[in-house]
Amino acid sequence: MTIAETRAAEDVIGTAISSMGSGNGSPTKIPVYRYISPDFAKVEIEKVFAKAWLVACSVDHVAEAGDYYEYRAGPYSVLIVRGDDGELRAFQNACRHRGNIICEGAGSGITELRCMYHNWTWDLRGRLRQVPSRKGFGTLRNDDLPLLAARVDTWGRIVFVNLDVDAMSLAEYLEGVPEDAAWIDPDVYRCTRVITTTVPANWKVLSEGFSETYHVQCLHQEMLGSIDDINAGQFLWERHGVSKQRYGVPSPRLGRHVDPQVVWDSFIVTQGMRMGINESCPVPELADGQTVQELIADGIRGVLTARGVDVSHLDTDQITTLNQYNLFPNVTVLYNVDSLSVMYALPGASVDESVFTVLHFERTAAADSPRAQPQQHDIPAGMQVFGNVINQDVELLRNAQRGLRQPGLTHLSLSSEECRIINNHRTLERYCGISPSEMTGGPVR
Ligand code: FES
Ligand SMILES: [Fe+2]
Repeated sequence: MTIAETRAAEDVIGTAISSMGSGNGSPTKIPVYRYISPDFAKVEIEKVFAKAWLVACSVDHVAEAGDYYEYRAGPYSVLIVRGDDGELRAFQNACRHRGNIICEGAGSGITELRCMYHNWTWDLRGRLRQVPSRKGFGTLRNDDLPLLAARVDTWGRIVFVNLDVDAMSLAEYLEGVPEDAAWIDPDVYRCTRVITTTVPANWKVLSEGFSETYHVQCLHQEMLGSIDDINAGQFLWERHGVSKQRYGVPSPRLGRHVDPQVVWDSFIVTQGMRMGINESCPVPELADGQTVQELIADGIRGVLTARGVDVSHLDTDQITTLNQYNLFPNVTVLYNVDSLSVMYALPGASVDESVFTVLHFERTAAADSPRAQPQQHDIPAGMQVFGNVINQDVELLRNAQRGLRQPGLTHLSLSSEECRIINNHRTLERYCGISPSEMTGGPVR
């Protein structure tokens, strides 16, 4: 069966899928070598990370002329620069003389791009302007040696790059995702901080930890009082997926009658600061017909109003629902109405390591709010800096990767509830040229 035939047989694309999956068919088998083989990791670098659109940074990093940001992905380095004409451009970070990296890190106020080795200099549009002792090169035309281009584009305040200048546009790549999220108003967010750390697990193990809610009932039991993990709808596009999780309501796993105090406590323990509350307290008295979910939505509205942000046009479900987009290959976008987290996993120094970056954004009053100045935090491996729930996720990953090293484990067995992971692997197969598909099983439709 070709990949296309496998897809047609399963026909899950463009389909709403309940969180619990279909309940028929058989587990989807994914080969384990994809997580532990250095050879496969090389293929991914060449065919995925040099070809796909990747989240790099925020518009706040490169908001004004002369701002620059170096984005690294495995061996690749892309220089993102805001030109004096206001245009955002990206270049492969390599000097056309002998290849030296031109800029490291991030900064502002530059008027040219100068290589620190022998002083070759380009303008912010990537045009070669200066070559010391030019005579020795014979005929050297500036026009022949611009900086090598990469693609750059934005969705809301998120900056994406692509090393493949022939790639499809970002708008096409993102499929229906921007339209699906338009009501959230992606332009009003500002990036306030970025956390980067290393994790002892393959980049896919890390990314997949944020691509299903199946683990909530085991790893994050304290969340069950305030999340409907069972009816969280999922939707798949060809490359990407979304899960919409309603908070402020108890999991159906807890039974029909859940004390409002349980719901309230669970929300406070896991995300109380969204209401400005960081320790347990009695649930406020409910008016006739009022739900805890409405109380929580009011609490979130109150915090936003105090910051001058009006979300009165959004209803209780919109305010309490987390919109979790999983973008191929390695991105999880967590859109709440009050904040946005963009997380991505990149290949690390070995196949058993990854680099984890989280960009944190706050909602502001309007799309023309001033830029923020994101603070960069490089955190040593193993430090728990992400908040309770994500700390639990990251902590588990070390063991997830160690288990994958056991020689008898040749395949993983996934539920249709884990459809976003399955879909990511199908897209991975297409990018890596794996045909016919190596994945078997799956739901029968
Ligand atoms: S390597 Fe850049 S100027 Fe020589
Ligand atoms: Fe989790």
